[in-house]
Amino acid sequence: MITNLRGRDLIGDLDFSKEEVETVLDVAWDLKRKRALGEPHPLLRDKTLGMLFFFSSTRTRCSFEAGMAQLGGHAAFIESRTTQVAHGDTAKEIGEILGRYFDGIAIRHCDWKIGNQYLNWVAEASRTPVLNMQCDIYHPFQCLADLMTIQEKKGRDLRKKKIVVSWAYASSYLKPISVPQSLILQMPRFGMDVTLSYPPEFKLMPDIVEQAQAQARKYGTAFDIVHDMEAGFKDADVVYAKSWGPLLTTADPAEGKRLQDKHQDWITDAAKMKLAKPDAIYMHPLPADRDIEVTSEVMDGPQSVVFDQAENRLHAQKAVMALTMW
Ligand code: CP
Repeated sequence: MITNLRGRDLIGDLDFSKEEVETVLDVAWDLKRKRALGEPHPLLRDKTLGMLFFFSSTRTRCSFEAGMAQLGGHAAFIESRTTQVAHGDTAKEIGEILGRYFDGIAIRHCDWKIGNQYLNWVAEASRTPVLNMQCDIYHPFQCLADLMTIQEKKGRDLRKKKIVVSWAYASSYLKPISVPQSLILQMPRFGMDVTLSYPPEFKLMPDIVEQAQAQARKYGTAFDIVHDMEAGFKDADVVYAKSWGPLLTTADPAEGKRLQDKHQDWITDAAKMKLAKPDAIYMHPLPADRDIEVTSEVMDGPQSVVFDQAENRLHAQKAVMALTMW
């Protein structure tokens, strides 16, 4: 087991090697087992995590906060609008100062072309690890929980298993592109064949797609792009269908909404799930636009693993914190 993760940042999905991600998963399963047994595991006693949010959250905030308490430490919720971040604290100052108070700094900053840069600036100035709770480019902790869930449901050897990462229609807001980007980067390393499916206006960042294709070549897996939801779902073992904004096509929210509204038929429903393998699982990071992005029949049906997926956020995050913040 490789254990040189102490003090390391986790900002992009490829920051940890495949072997290091395997170590994270080993620890995550052990911590999940300990929690199931009621076995205390205060690996971060007296340690503190500062959690700085520029964007709303349910699962990420709650799972990091609960996770730190279960590890014997404390997590402080910091909201950008109610701190002096709103009045000029710079990223450098946040890294330097919060790095002196806390044993780790976790940040969610999803603003397009700003969030990832901000995290990297904080990390440059911080003496303690910076953990990415979602930026405009990556959502690495979601992806670790997703990988853990897929391995629980489909076995540790994922070679020849197909995941479709599909765009889906939503009406609520233009969601970040970080979840699909993290998935296409990480899943080839664990043997999965990836099909990325989206209407042409909803492409992902070209350099991320190139990196994902390079991972697929390195690990000998398939990587396909289609522009048809049904074609994407065909014979999939894992259906991961969610909405994201057309950020590479337009920066104008009104135009983005217009483009989104053109594709209201991109909903995950029972008929589309029938195109996948009979034992396919349905995944979504949540929140979803119910009966718009996915039918309640699918979301609440026997193929849906969304609650196990949400639970695994807790275990995967505790593993990374325990490995990086001691
Ligand atoms: N999946 C996810 O990151 O959920 P939240 O936005 O509620 O944190």
